[in-house]
Amino acid sequence: MHWRNLRYVCLLFTLLAMGSQMEAKVTESVFGKTPDGTAVDVYTLQDGAITARIMSYGARVLSLETPDRNGKVADIVLGYDTLAPYLHDSTYFGSVPGRYANRIANAEFTLDGKQYHLIKNDGQNSLHGGSHGFATKVWKGRIVPHGVEFTLVSPDGDSGYPGTLTAHVRYTLEHNALKIEYSATTDKDTVVNLTNHSYFNLSGEGSGNILGELLTVNADRYTPIDAGLIPTGQLAPVAGTPFDFRKATAIGARINDDNEQLHLAHGYDQNFVLNGKPGTLSEAARVVDPNSGRVLVVKTTQPGLQFYTGNFLFGVKGKNGHVYQRHGGFALETQHFPDSPNQPKFPSTELKPGQTYHEATVFEFQVER
Ligand code: BGC
Repeated sequence: MHWRNLRYVCLLFTLLAMGSQMEAKVTESVFGKTPDGTAVDVYTLQDGAITARIMSYGARVLSLETPDRNGKVADIVLGYDTLAPYLHDSTYFGSVPGRYANRIANAEFTLDGKQYHLIKNDGQNSLHGGSHGFATKVWKGRIVPHGVEFTLVSPDGDSGYPGTLTAHVRYTLEHNALKIEYSATTDKDTVVNLTNHSYFNLSGEGSGNILGELLTVNADRYTPIDAGLIPTGQLAPVAGTPFDFRKATAIGARINDDNEQLHLAHGYDQNFVLNGKPGTLSEAARVVDPNSGRVLVVKTTQPGLQFYTGNFLFGVKGKNGHVYQRHGGFALETQHFPDSPNQPKFPSTELKPGQTYHEATVFEFQVER
């Protein structure tokens, strides 16, 4: 072959290699079976040095490997190695809770003059859709460009919620970011609130607590809670409180302050009122880990963000023989505010036939030198 032709062949191969780098590689395999024999699939999304594994049970993120400042890769989300512990899990590791993520007071709400009763699984309240919520369902997955899309059809009356809800959650890995797009439609008036419940530890799962990681939250206000962790309805300023994360602050800097809200939740477990315009993707939060140099940037279209410091993790036997303790991970759950169906002043979570619920959240991974 003439050297000039060889040059073109080389160029072609380079372009093809770049092309394949630009498109995340997605593969599918079986992760396990539920007791009734339903297969649970796992989808592996790989883009450059980032690998995400996501399974159809609860549409859960199983693992998320990202490089540190030296290029060393670690799994930065808490979870289990096999399916069995997920089937009895109360942490919601990596899941998409639903039909209503977070709490609904007294497990009831009124819509169009009719009262609906939900499953009480958190004292008197309903948490994350109840004990048979979306985090416990086997979703149907299909590979899409750069990722996977899961679909769940929740029948009319499922866990007490009205209307058949068809929900889609699409995970894609591109440009050093895991994007999660949620959509849903209904055949009767209902309420819906979807999020992702990953617990992050930017030094790596099982590497200790997250109290030294630096958090910024783009919120001037938050929604204080009562003893049942239900919002009081107030939108309180963060200024002058341990909830002021408008400048990067270590998560643990004020977590033990003598503050009623922190006492009630045994740490942080409150919803922030994001400053971004709802419906527009904007930066909600950023976490910097001085130890590894990993940086997590959270962008969302949602109006709220639950910041939860894993206050109820006590000796959870997790991946790789690791045992997770209190504050072993943090969750940044982009969402509508808790208990919105009972709080007329909060942004509405109602969905009507003919409307499409649509929200998006991006977890972007960077490193700081
Ligand atoms: C809630 C916590 C709860 C946890 C359960 C979080 O979204 O805010 O109160 O304990 O979910 O895993």
